[in-house]
Amino acid sequence: MTDSNSTSTKAATDAKAFHGEYPRIVVAPPGPKARAIIDQDAEYSSTSYIKEYPLAVSHGEGPVIEDVDGNRYLDFMAGIAVASTGYSHPAVVEAVREAAGRFFHICGTDFYYQTMASLCERLAKMGPGSSKKRVFLSNSGAEAVDGAIKLVRNSTGRTDLIAFQGAFHGRTYGGMSLTSSKAKQRATFGPMIPGVHHVPYPDPYRLETGGREVGAFVLDQIQALFSRHLYPKDVAAIFVEPLLGEGGYVIPPTSFIEGLRALCDEHGILLVFDEIQTGVGRTGQMWAADYFGVEPDVLLTAKGLGSGMPIGAIIARESIMRWSSGSHGSTFGGNPVGCAAALATLDVVEGGLLDNVREMGELMMTGLKRLQEKHTCIGDVRGMGLYIGVEFVKDRATKEPASELVGQLGQLAFTKGLLLLSCGESVIRIAPPLVIDADDVKTGLRIIDECITELTAGVGK
Ligand SMILES: Cc1ncc(COP(=O)(O)O)c(C=O)c1O
Repeated sequence: MTDSNSTSTKAATDAKAFHGEYPRIVVAPPGPKARAIIDQDAEYSSTSYIKEYPLAVSHGEGPVIEDVDGNRYLDFMAGIAVASTGYSHPAVVEAVREAAGRFFHICGTDFYYQTMASLCERLAKMGPGSSKKRVFLSNSGAEAVDGAIKLVRNSTGRTDLIAFQGAFHGRTYGGMSLTSSKAKQRATFGPMIPGVHHVPYPDPYRLETGGREVGAFVLDQIQALFSRHLYPKDVAAIFVEPLLGEGGYVIPPTSFIEGLRALCDEHGILLVFDEIQTGVGRTGQMWAADYFGVEPDVLLTAKGLGSGMPIGAIIARESIMRWSSGSHGSTFGGNPVGCAAALATLDVVEGGLLDNVREMGELMMTGLKRLQEKHTCIGDVRGMGLYIGVEFVKDRATKEPASELVGQLGQLAFTKGLLLLSCGESVIRIAPPLVIDADDVKTGLRIIDECITELTAGVGK
């Protein structure tokens, strides 16, 4: 192990969660206490909730969650890519306690406080790119997306928006209108907001392009849209996840992201990166934009920003964020406790965690590629840092999605103490807390291997 390896791993694991005593299944989940919560919830909570598997959380430490019956799970999904610094990171907990002890709320839209001013300055200066920026703070990802729709329309005086098939941008009307991931997320809720046009996402594994390079193929599709259907000067912005998230953890070619930037510049269209899932260190860079070396006009972040406290942000070039006082606001957005959590999270991420993400991401990729060699049901493994998609297929030649297998894998891994989450049609997204160490990677991969072996025994793998 090199010095830099040991430094960053130490930073991530100064106190090994639960003294290293995990995963630990003491009662087959759901145990009796979990069952009681699940039954109560089932009676009174909205029927729209998904509930992937019967996990009822008591508390967490680092990359580990303990359920109410004492089972301990290694977490490879971080509450959907949120628990960036892990569970109960001492620095984040302390910052939240300190802020909560002062005041919960005053409304940042109308009044001032230090943590809000500091967080706006910090995010504005963190880029990506060199232009001066301003920041609007929200409660959630979808609220940031909706705010950005208003901002780009306000800034350009144009109405239309381009988004991508497979994209997920949230559950509000703006976010949902841009979303094209699963039809059931939109079904029965129409009409959507007008002026949204979807084009294919450059999925190197799946998109049929007739031999054309995938990024160039999609850029051509946008050009075709411009010549036949949509006047480019009517387009306010292109909203893109620089790495596709809910739609399948897909990594597009760098040339595509560069091409999008050039296309936007040519037509005066704003480029919005939805980094709600990819931002704040998950890819081993602070922003995926840093990896591509492309500066968007607007960047949206949320999820990992507050380590789980609800906070999001619209980070926009100063030349764009010029809407007038009172034109946009939020009662709770950028609340003092959320701001304190975000500032502490950024301290932790910038204080050595990015190195850990890159090192653990490499270990994870290598291990998953090995599993791909062993199990023919794994069609593709791709990723950046601790943002990795493992795509399962029934047959490598036809690439028919193995959705059922992915469902079974999530359930079986849960019973063995590993938390997984799917995305796309048949992809497991590996998005653990950024503080995992090499032992955690090894343990998680061992359980995934065991599960696949059990599930494919006797079916020709
Ligand atoms: C890329 C992306 N955008 C937007 C959202 C919506 O964020 P939220 O659920 O915080 O509203 C999500 C949530 O999964 C997301 O992954």
